[in-house]
Amino acid sequence: MTLFAGSAQCPYVVNEACIKCKYMDCVEVSPVDCFYERENMLVIHPDECIDCGVCEPECPAEAIVPDTAPGAESWPQHNHTYSTEWPNITRKGTPPADADEWKGVAEKFSRFFSTKPGEAKR
Ligand code: F3S
Repeated sequence: MTLFAGSAQCPYVVNEACIKCKYMDCVEVSPVDCFYERENMLVIHPDECIDCGVCEPECPAEAIVPDTAPGAESWPQHNHTYSTEWPNITRKGTPPADADEWKGVAEKFSRFFSTKPGEAKR
């Protein structure tokens, strides 16, 4: 578990596997609407996540992982930072038409991370 100053625990995080996949199945099952959206990915707000774990198996891209997972080290801070800047999303939108083509592609963060706004569904 990773703790940040002024923040509660951050049990689950979205990692770069979400980028350009953005299926949004996670949004449909979250009981607390803790997802935040940018153009091509979502993040989880650590203060709002209740650690229920229901979103983790729903992601077709396996982009939701516990913050203690191997390789997840940088993602708690990323989710914390951007969840406070990006708009909340509470309803699933239309995933990218080519989402399946980006599943499992490596190094998406360095190549495709975007700060453009999403079209959040509330
Ligand atoms: Fe991203 Fe998976 Fe949700 S691809 S939008 S974390 S269902």
